[in-house]
Formats: sequence, structure tokens, C-alpha cells
Amino acid sequence: MPQCRLYVSLSILIAILTQLVFSQKQNFTCHVTDSEHLHKHNFTELSSSDITIYDESADGNITLRLCSPLSQTCAGSSDYSICLRKHGTEIGLGKFPPLLQNNHTSMFTFTGDLCSNSKNYTVLIIMKCQENAIDTTIPQLIPKAKYDHCSTYFIWYTKWACNKPKNSNCTVVDERNNLYDLSPLTAYKNNYVVYIDDKGNLVMNINVCHSVIHEYGSACYGTAGACLAVYSNDSSNHEYINYGEVNQALTINNGNLEILYTHGHLCNDETEHSYLWTNITFICDPEATEYTQPMYKNNTSCNYEFVWKTSLACNKTYLNEYAKKCKVTNPRTKYIYNMKALSFGYVMTNTSDGTQYQLQICGPLRNSKCPQGTGVCNTKDFVSAGMANANLMWRHGGPYLNYTNGVKCQNGRNHYTIISFICGPEESTGLPIIVKNDSCSLIIYWYTNRACEKRLRCGEKETNLLPLVRTSKNYVAKGMGTEFHINICLGVIPTPGLACPPGSAVCQAARTSEGQYTNETSLGYPDETTILLDKQNVILNYSQGSPCPENPLKNLSSSFKFSCNYYGDHGSPEFENYSNCHFSFTWKTNIVCATLVGVWVPPCTVKDTTHANKVDLSLLYPKPVPRIVTGTGKNYSINICGGKEHCNGSAICQGTNGYGTITSVMFDYNSKAIKLVYRNGSTCSGDSYTSELSLICNDSVGIDSGPKLILHGYCMASFEWHTKIACPEKVMLDSRTSTYPVYTTETTPARESLQKNDAAVQTWAIVSALLLVAVVLIAWFCMRNPRSCSDLRYRINAITASRNHSTVQYSRVNTTEEAHLLLDTSDPCGDGEIDSDDELLGV
Ligand SMILES: *[C@@H]1O[C@H](CO)[C@@H](O)[C@H](O)[C@H]1NC(C)=O
Ligand SMILES: *[C@@H]1O[C@H](CO)[C@@H](O)[C@H](O)[C@H]1NC(C)=O
Ligand SMILES: *[C@@H]1O[C@H](CO)[C@@H](O)[C@H](O)[C@H]1NC(C)=O
Ligand SMILES: *[C@@H]1O[C@H](CO)[C@@H](O)[C@H](O)[C@H]1NC(C)=O
Ligand SMILES: *[C@@H]1O[C@H](CO)[C@@H](O)[C@H](O)[C@H]1NC(C)=O
Ligand SMILES: *[C@@H]1O[C@H](CO)[C@@H](O)[C@H](O)[C@H]1NC(C)=O
Ligand SMILES: *[C@@H]1O[C@H](CO)[C@@H](O)[C@H](O)[C@H]1NC(C)=O
Ligand SMILES: *[C@@H]1O[C@H](CO)[C@@H](O)[C@H](O)[C@H]1NC(C)=O
Ligand SMILES: *[C@@H]1O[C@H](CO)[C@@H](O)[C@H](O)[C@H]1NC(C)=O
Ligand SMILES: *[C@@H]1O[C@H](CO)[C@@H](O)[C@H](O)[C@H]1NC(C)=O
Ligand SMILES: *[C@@H]1O[C@H](CO)[C@@H](O)[C@H](O)[C@H]1NC(C)=O
Ligand SMILES: *[C@@H]1O[C@H](CO)[C@@H](O)[C@H](O)[C@H]1NC(C)=O
Repeated sequence: MPQCRLYVSLSILIAILTQLVFSQKQNFTCHVTDSEHLHKHNFTELSSSDITIYDESADGNITLRLCSPLSQTCAGSSDYSICLRKHGTEIGLGKFPPLLQNNHTSMFTFTGDLCSNSKNYTVLIIMKCQENAIDTTIPQLIPKAKYDHCSTYFIWYTKWACNKPKNSNCTVVDERNNLYDLSPLTAYKNNYVVYIDDKGNLVMNINVCHSVIHEYGSACYGTAGACLAVYSNDSSNHEYINYGEVNQALTINNGNLEILYTHGHLCNDETEHSYLWTNITFICDPEATEYTQPMYKNNTSCNYEFVWKTSLACNKTYLNEYAKKCKVTNPRTKYIYNMKALSFGYVMTNTSDGTQYQLQICGPLRNSKCPQGTGVCNTKDFVSAGMANANLMWRHGGPYLNYTNGVKCQNGRNHYTIISFICGPEESTGLPIIVKNDSCSLIIYWYTNRACEKRLRCGEKETNLLPLVRTSKNYVAKGMGTEFHINICLGVIPTPGLACPPGSAVCQAARTSEGQYTNETSLGYPDETTILLDKQNVILNYSQGSPCPENPLKNLSSSFKFSCNYYGDHGSPEFENYSNCHFSFTWKTNIVCATLVGVWVPPCTVKDTTHANKVDLSLLYPKPVPRIVTGTGKNYSINICGGKEHCNGSAICQGTNGYGTITSVMFDYNSKAIKLVYRNGSTCSGDSYTSELSLICNDSVGIDSGPKLILHGYCMASFEWHTKIACPEKVMLDSRTSTYPVYTTETTPARESLQKNDAAVQTWAIVSALLLVAVVLIAWFCMRNPRSCSDLRYRINAITASRNHSTVQYSRVNTTEEAHLLLDTSDPCGDGEIDSDDELLGV
């Protein structure tokens, strides 16, 4: 809703901008009085220094200063307030002074250098109220529209853009002495918005125990708690109607919490002769814990009625009763997590000191020597590490239980235990693991499918990062004097001593002088799917991590940029930089490459070195005779496995002309083809004959349909050969289940024990080798996913020349064996075939 609303307000604001007539420059003051001359907005405090913001679409840095010219010159002039710097060039996006206007919302309009023929650069900065913002917020860049690169828009949330608010008492006690507090619902930045009609012409802005944020779109006079915007076809005729002032405390009416906003605008209804008012009734809904919204119920000529379902309207007794269910709802998605199935007794051993704990989920332990009601029992001296409850709670990263009131520990506090349920790899062992303990708390992680709301499918569509997903040991990168524990599309794998916020995909941790992990911070969760940036680069973003230390209003986030590295392996992440609460990593890998280099293994096998795919081409020759292809009056004889005996070592021969020896093998995973490139054949007009042959996967033609000539030139020829042997081996699909356990049975050994124990190192090496094999197998399986094949077809066109090119082209012809032949192949990925393969793959 807020985004939608933002969009609506923005589009209106942008429309206004186009109507602006620039008034004469005058002495600039950095404050403006709002259009009703009631409140002064003074932005001087925001302009104490230059602010730099990275603009991704321009790939440059925008430096800006709101109320004065920049401290440094831009494009040789000191007149600019906004400057774009990229790769050594400087563009003045905005000259000082700006035009500062207030049409309920304050806006700065800057004009800069000439952008295109008739247009100058403009920068519009929209100042939006956020009452609880810290002093030094920075503006947010709105992504640019493709068709208009001359205009830049920022939104700047700041307390300096607010009108003076009015509050009312938001707590109430009922006759049974239950206390209710609705203040968590008070909005300090974007109002609650309720669309009254379908067309969006009647929009009610609402706040709770607090006046609505005054801005364009909710510009009622006074301190309204409910403000109706009436939009008309004629944009100059919008109306804002005060539907009640914030003037009375939260009350209880007929057993329901109720807010009344009264004494708004005069009501036109002659029979009632009163003022407009609004009535919001709050209904208890234990599952509506966050992101709840008011709902329109009814209206009369003088009144609007809303109902609002929220857990804040429930009494504590009821909430606790409800919570005993061992269930919790993700408030954002309404997905219900249920851990009842796990409510058995377990015994866990703390690997660091050998202490054993008994654990019972959502209920007290039975047959335990610990005090009655204990949920986690330390069996060393039978003390409670926390009393049981079934109050499953939710936080980003998954549901959890907090067992409190255990044995007394330090400073009179009681021991507690957090049990976090985390969506684990598909074959998670499903047992609780102790990740950290100190004298007063115990942290248990439980990787289970029951905590999976949706699995992020990293292997879908354009990007297939599945081969990089770790199920047994995190990637570790270093930077800023810390370690980054990283997984792809999945939360980090539990590591003893590393207590990351559960479910985080990147966890930053420092080490103490004793080598213990400390200050574990989440750099984001695996919520978003991968983005194809361009042909060979894939971006993966993790957001909503721990609060940002420099700006508590923001959360830490991270991103990974995967770049194709043809000759590399899966690669590993490297920390690049940290800026603006965001960590950037780069990752060079062959996984995002559409085509991989293979090698020729005599006598007649080709092998993809990175994915260990091997194809025996002698299968194409059940009889040891060359295949003959006739085309344009010439006969070509093709003998891939012929070696020296055939045509002076050439695999392809026409008359006495040899068409070259093998120089490169390419595995094109998108079009499921294997390309063989032959060069340095017999002399042809001072050059030499060359040829190439594409083996194209085609399941429906038996062993083969025979090679076909598809292109020929004066000194070259190119052939296609549809055959089953270029297809993914079915055995891979069948053995899928047996390849997975290799992943999961392996556990992360503690670093220390590895160093001490050579035998362990060897075991680890063997397990790693097995793991590598499994990764390779799965990688191959994934690369052959026909869906990514069809979706990604265009990627290959970057590597291969378009089919429309009438001649075969070579690009970057190296003298090395890795010359890339640029030649398109036909599309072997018919859609009919995809469905059946999908079934096989189970996707
Ligand atoms: C701007 O301010 C200066 C000094 O305060 C004054 O001399 C000048 O007339 C002002 N110009 C305008 C256009 O108001
Ligand atoms: C605006 O704020 C600045 C800094 O807080 C102050 O110096 C200045 O006097 C204010 N201007 C007005 C007109 O209130
Ligand atoms: C933007 O600024 C950052 C930090 O000063 C710098 O590292 C980066 O290279 C700049 N980017 C460009 C495109 O100038
Ligand atoms: C537009 O840019 C040109 C060239 O920089 C400048 O001379 C002109 O004054 C600009 N127009 C406005 C309205 O600022
Ligand atoms: C708000 O109302 C509650 C009960 O109605 C009362 O106890 C409390 O003192 C009031 N708070 C304020 C700040 O007036
Ligand atoms: C607004 O425009 C719509 C369609 O363009 C029209 O049906 C409607 O009558 C107009 N309303 C007013 C108040 O002019
Ligand atoms: C404020 O916005 C309205 C609606 O777009 C417009 O009609 C009006 O002229 C604007 N007022 C000012 C002072 O710009
Ligand atoms: C507010 O609305 C509810 C129904 O939505 C109604 O039961 C209640 O009586 C109303 N309050 C007042 C003061 O009219
Ligand atoms: C709305 O209020 C009117 C007048 O009180 C009543 O007749 C009508 O039934 C109400 N409609 C709904 C949907 O509650
Ligand atoms: C709490 O609320 C529930 C349902 O809303 C009600 O049945 C129960 O009596 C209330 N309990 C107390 C102690 O107020
Ligand atoms: C769990 O309960 C303890 C003790 O009341 C408290 O200090 C801690 O913050 C709680 N943790 C969470 C994640 O709720
Ligand atoms: C952990 O964070 C605290 C508080 O920010 C800091 O003082 C301490 O130095 C950090 N520890 C390490 C090992 O970085």
C-alpha cells in the first residue's frame, strides 16, 4: 500500500512540476511556509554538508547540497548544488539556487546544464514528512525512467517537512483491568490510506491517535485524524475534507476499542446540522500482528466508519491462550507455521563442553529431573534452561520459541533459551543444534522443512545459481576485519559458535582475541529471486538484515554480482565494498556462463572440464565408415573419430581438401549443443580450410539423423548433427536421489579439531571430494534444466553470431586452442520437449 500510494502522489507531483513556470531568481532562503501559511518548513539543517549518492542508472555519483552551492566546484563552476560525477566527467545537474515551493508538500526544483537539444537537466527533490526521522537522513533516489534521462527525482524523508502534529491518549483500560495500547499503529511517515471508491477518486487518509501526516494527498486543514481526499478530473480542483480532529482518547464502546475523530468540517447535511466525524472500531485478531490496515465499513452524509483488525485489540489472556497453539502466522503473507509435529522430546549435546540438554517443543518435558514445566533441561545439574511455552513467535527469518524463567543466572536474571526454526536445505537432517551458549542463554537452531514458507528457486528462469547453494559449509569471505559467512539462496549453514540471526543468508561476524565468533550481524535474508543484469552477469540481493549502525532507520543489505568466468570453477565470493548500509560482493564463476569450454580426449571423447560432462562420440559411428553429406554439388565425408587415417588428419573432408583438425570444443548449455571447431586444414587461397560441426540434442531422432550441411563458404563449411548423444544423460536424473545424501550426511567440523587431527583432515578431504562430485553432478543436471535453456536462449546470441548473418564469423581468433567460433545453431529446445523434461526433473 505505501508504495502504491507513493506512486500515486509522485505521479501527481510530477504532473505539477510540468506546470511550473520558473519565477525570477531571488535571494534564496531555505525555508518555506506551507500553502495554508500555518507551518514553516525550514530545511537549513539538512544542508550542512555535501551528500553523495550512487546513481546506478547513470553509473556515477550524485553529490548534492540542498540550500547552497556545493563545497567543491562542478564542471569548473562553483554555482552548482547538484553534480553528477562519473568516470572523470562532471555534469552540473542542478544550479543554485533551486526553486523551493510548497503545495502541501515541499519541493526543490533544480535546473542544470543542457541535457538534450532543448531540455536542461532537472532535479526534483520532494520533501516528505517523517516525524521520527533522525536528523541526518539522506534523500532516496527514485529510479530513472528509461525515456527521460534528463530528470532526476529524489524523495527525502525528514522531520523538517512536518507540520506540527497533534496526539491523543492511545491507551485504555477495560472493566476487567486489561490494558490496551494502540500506539504501535501510529504512523509517523506515511498515513494509512483507504480507497473508498473503485476509481480512486475518494481516498481516506487515517492515522491512529495522531493527526494525519500533512502533505500532498492528505492536505486537510487543521489537525485531522481522518482526511478525505476528493480527486476530480480537473487536477486543480482536488479537495481535502477534514473528517474529524484528533481530540479525544481511545475509548471502549460495546466491548470494542474505538477511536472517534470529531468536529471536522461542517457537515452539509441540513437535517443533521453538525460536523463531520469518523469512527474507527478495533477488533481483536490474534493473527493480525503487523502491517494491519483499516477497512472501510460504512458512511453516512456526516460520518465514515472503519474497522481495523489487530492483535493489539486482544487482551493478554486471550493472546496467551491463542499462542499456546504452537502456531504463528507470518503477518505479511498470512502463511501459518505449525511446529506441533515437532513436539517430542529430544536430547542435544553441546559440542563445546559436552553438556547434554533435554528439549521439548511447545510443552514441558516429561520424565525430567528438572523442575516441573521445564522446556529445556541442563542434565549436568538438572537446572532449567527455560520454562516451556507454546507461544511460537515470528520474526524475519522464521518462527521461534523463547523459553524464559529458567534458573537464576547473573544479575538476578533468569536463564532463557531461544529455539529458532529455520528453513533448511531440502534434505535437512531435522534435528536441533546448539549454536551458542553463555551463562544466561542458550541458542538452538532447528533446520526443518516446517519452517519453509516458500523455497526460493534459484534455479529458475534466466539465472541458475543452484550449483552454488551450500548445504554443508558456508562460503567465507573476509573484509573490514571481519568474516562474512555466506550461502546462496538459503540461510547460512549452522556453524558451531556462530549465532547469526536465523535465516540470514549472509552473516558478518568478528572474532575475539580468543578466536570466538562475536557481533554476528545479518546482512540480509534470501527473499528475492536473482536478477539477470546482462548476458553474463547475475545479481542476487539480500535485504532486511540487522539495523544499520550508521542509520538505524535502515536495515543492512547485501548483493552479489556473479560474473562469467569461462575458464574458472564455481568460484567464491569476494568482498568488494561497504557503502550506505549495503555490502557488495563479487563472484567470478563459470555457473553464469552460457557456454563452457570443453576438451578433446583421444580417441573420441569430448569432456566439459568444469562440469565433468563426458560424451563418447564414437557412439555416432556404429560402423567404422565416414558419413557422407551431399550439398551444393559437393560430397563431404565426416569422420569425427577418424584421426590420422582419415583425410590427412582432418575430420571433415571434401575431395582432397581436409577441413581442419580439432581446435576447440564448446558445450553450449542453453541450446544443448556441443560444438566442435576444426581449423588449419588444407591450404585454401593462401589461407586454410576450416569447418565446424554442432552436435545438437534431439531425443526424438534415435541415435542420429546424420549430419547436415547448413552453411558453406569458399574455405569453410559448417554442419549440424541432431543426435541423442548430445542430450543430458537420463541416468543423471534417475540417480538424483542418490546424489543428495552425499551433501547432507557430511557435517561441518570445527576448525580447531581439524587442526589437531590429521585423520579428521583426511576424512574431511574424502568427504569434500565426494561433495565436489555431488556438486558437479548436480551442476550438470542444473545446467541442463530445459527451462533455463528456453528462457535463456537469447543469452547465447552474445556468444554466437546471429543466424541472420549470412557468413560464419570468427571473433577474437586466438592462436590458442580456445578460439571461439561464432556460429549460431538452430533451436533444439522445442517447447514440447520442455514439459516432459520438467516432469522428469520434478520442477
Ligand atoms: C538579495 O540580498 C541582497 C543582500 O541582502 C540585496 O542587496 C539584494 O537586493 C537581494 N536581491 C533580491 C533580488 O532580493
Ligand atoms: C532555519 O534554521 C536555521 C538552522 O537551524 C536557523 O539558523 C534559521 O534561523 C532558521 N530560519 C528561519 C527563518 O527560521
Ligand atoms: C562513487 O563514490 C565512491 C566512494 O567515494 C567511489 O568508490 C566510486 O568509485 C564512485 N563511483 C563513480 C562511478 O565515480
Ligand atoms: C540550460 O542549459 C544551458 C547550458 O548550460 C544554460 O545556458 C541555460 O541557462 C540553462 N537553462 C536554464 C533554464 O537554466
Ligand atoms: C491515558 O489514559 C489512561 C487510561 O485511560 C491513563 O491511565 C493515562 O494516564 C493516560 N495517559 C496520558 C498521557 O494522559
Ligand atoms: C471524469 O471523467 C470520467 C471519464 O473521463 C467521466 O465519466 C466523469 O463524468 C468525469 N467526472 C467529472 C466530475 O467530470
Ligand atoms: C498546487 O497543486 C494544485 C493541483 O495540482 C494546482 O492546481 C495549484 O496551482 C498548485 N499550487 C501552487 C501554489 O503551485
Ligand atoms: C462506531 O461504529 C461501530 C460499528 O462500526 C458502532 O457499533 C459504534 O456504535 C460506533 N460508535 C459511535 C460512537 O457511533
Ligand atoms: C450503513 O449505515 C446505514 C445507516 O446507518 C445502514 O442503513 C446500512 O445498513 C449500513 N450499511 C452497512 C453495509 O453496514
Ligand atoms: C479476553 O478476550 C476474550 C475474547 O475477546 C474474552 O472471551 C475473554 O473473556 C477476555 N478475558 C479477559 C480476562 O478479559
Ligand atoms: C527472550 O526472553 C528473554 C528473557 O525475557 C529476553 O531477554 C530476550 O530478549 C527474549 N528474546 C527474544 C528473541 O524474544
Ligand atoms: C563488537 O561490537 C562492539 C560494539 O559495537 C565493539 O565495541 C566491539 O569491539 C566489537 N567486537 C569485535 C571483536 O569487533
